[in-house]
Amino acid sequence: MTKPFIEKILKEMTLPEKLAQLTQLTPMYLGTDDSIDLTGPLNELRLQPEMVCNVGSVLNNAGAQKSIDLQNYVLAHNRHKIPLLLMADIIHGFKTVFPIPLAQACSFDMDACEASAAIAAKEGAVSGVHVTFSPMADLVRDPRWGRVMEAAGEDPYLNACVAASMVKGYQGKDLREKGRLAACVKHFAAYGAPEGGREYNTVDLSEGVLREFYLTAYKAAVDAGVALVMAAFNTVERVPASANRRLMRDVLRKEWGFQGVVISDFNSVDETIAHGAAANHADAAEKCLKAGVDIEMMSTDYMNHVEQLIEEKKLDAALVDEAVIRILELKDALGLFENPYKDADPVAEREVVLCDAHLRTAREIAAKSAVLLKNQAVLPLKKGLKIGLAGPFACSHHLEGGWSIESGKAVSLYDGLLQKGAADRIVTAMTEELGSMQDGIFDVPDQTQAAYEALQDCDVILVAVGENPSDTGEGSSKSSLRLSANQEKLVRVLHQTGKPVITLVFSGRPMEIKPICDDSDAVIQAWFLGTQAGNALADLLFGDVNPSGRLAMSFPYTVGQIPVYYNHLQTGRPCLPGKEQERYVSRYLDCPNDPLFCFGYGLSYSAFSYHDFQVRKEGDGAVASVVVENTSERAGTETVQLYIHDVHASVARPVKELKGFRQVALEPHEKQTVHFAITPEMLSFYNSDLHMTFEHGDFEIMIGRNANEVWTERLYL
Ligand code: BGC
Repeated sequence: MTKPFIEKILKEMTLPEKLAQLTQLTPMYLGTDDSIDLTGPLNELRLQPEMVCNVGSVLNNAGAQKSIDLQNYVLAHNRHKIPLLLMADIIHGFKTVFPIPLAQACSFDMDACEASAAIAAKEGAVSGVHVTFSPMADLVRDPRWGRVMEAAGEDPYLNACVAASMVKGYQGKDLREKGRLAACVKHFAAYGAPEGGREYNTVDLSEGVLREFYLTAYKAAVDAGVALVMAAFNTVERVPASANRRLMRDVLRKEWGFQGVVISDFNSVDETIAHGAAANHADAAEKCLKAGVDIEMMSTDYMNHVEQLIEEKKLDAALVDEAVIRILELKDALGLFENPYKDADPVAEREVVLCDAHLRTAREIAAKSAVLLKNQAVLPLKKGLKIGLAGPFACSHHLEGGWSIESGKAVSLYDGLLQKGAADRIVTAMTEELGSMQDGIFDVPDQTQAAYEALQDCDVILVAVGENPSDTGEGSSKSSLRLSANQEKLVRVLHQTGKPVITLVFSGRPMEIKPICDDSDAVIQAWFLGTQAGNALADLLFGDVNPSGRLAMSFPYTVGQIPVYYNHLQTGRPCLPGKEQERYVSRYLDCPNDPLFCFGYGLSYSAFSYHDFQVRKEGDGAVASVVVENTSERAGTETVQLYIHDVHASVARPVKELKGFRQVALEPHEKQTVHFAITPEMLSFYNSDLHMTFEHGDFEIMIGRNANEVWTERLYL
């Protein structure tokens, strides 16, 4: 039921005023201030100046005072006193930057994901933001695509858990609460599967695969009560997502019951023309509004053409009203009609943003998000060693990663080490930062010989390599995932010193790191860990924190294996153990099928053993249990993972699917029994008629430390 005051405003609004509510612009158009226009082509918008001050929302304005000024400007001009919605890309923290989302997913710690979103919401809200364009729930299996950094990896279940936790963290129970933001799940749908990993490219998936694997996490966000959904740039079943009526009206609204606001992506309504799916601006407006896009971001096809479309009876005016009501209801849910500034407060902003408590949490989450990939008994570092430090990320403060409001303010690895009291024992070499491929810079100057000479008498050598953060995120696809030649050479040459080499990889995606792993005694995937990156890495290196991160995305041996992910379907000629040399099986001649490091993989300084694995039937399902024991002298956290495999079904099933995970913190020699309930629902899938069904039969139930190291029991259900 629409509230009477909203009905009343709607009645009094003219059609152009309604269309302005359906339009989102960057603040620079509102004549108040400079803008931080982040992305996309700023095309000729053909704006109607008298309508600009009536727009319903703005994109990427932040700062409490600026937000208050903007709100005042709009309220002074809007005769209905409809407050402005301020939306921004707060993707992994606001000023306190948390690890990139892919890294946060590697924490496998949903409380951590929720906590980071809650802090991002607090800082964003006090700075005047109402809506964040997060979480991104696009399933990703191709690290050539730059936006994998914003995703939660290759697994639908983990992806869904992360999306739901982030929605909870941003929104809390009530959007009116202080310190809450409305969340917008994106990019609906399947933007994470562009062909060839090339940005904005075609997505073409069968509907069964789309529904079962790719839609899962958006649905989880909707079930968690997400306030908005963003339509994607790509096509789905050959129809651009922003003009895709089946996707938005049938699946999202009818099947899933979503009642919130749908927003286009940046200019994506207009881009239906370039897709060849709309003839002109009017056609684009007609198709997208009919398909269910309520707010048009950064194009003005609604504003300029809907009136005429209604006159020509091509569009029903009720569609406009529906969209306006949803937008006004969102403003009401945020409490903006009573308090249009919500939490924006320049004084509180100074206290809340980057406060000590937020930095402490950021440091903890950063340490949980890094993944220890290799350790030949060189880590943790003993105190008092002479440390050599080299590589373009050794002293870099640009460790926040893409989609950060500010960059270049993170604690560097060098500074993190200094905090551990290692000042007089650190020698640095070849630390010049790596430029960006976006600027045509592909490598660092070769100073490997000098680095060799400078560091050869150190007790241990840390090498910090990676990719420039601006070469990750939107518009950052790559065809090669190797580190630059001089970075690989640096690791190789330093390995020749005979000293233990510990390599830290700073990247926004899984890279091809086989060559540097071979030349390193230990490897840490350091992602971009945010404001507290250097401190968190120093905590891990010195063992003040025991690594617990697990990979949310497979690391390929070579780019030629891509897409390589653990939950692929069975094939008719699988390459089973012992068949690696056979000719007519599904395999490569020159490299294994498996990735270098699989999903769920990650080491700890502790050692864990698994025993007494049992599966017993209970009710219409089963219970799996296993005893996990810390067999080491060091307290640590193990992530126990439950996978299932449907042995035969009416359609081919994945060889493994994650269905649960538990993090257990164990003291030295402590053990704990971990239980997982297995329900028919967990074993269900979309059959060829696209119905979610459970088929009785044989299942393999697997428990293990990662997707490859599992213990298996058979179950008939
Ligand atoms: C991106 C979205 C983002 C929007 C607004 C687009 O280019 O695809 O993820 O939220 O810009 O900045």
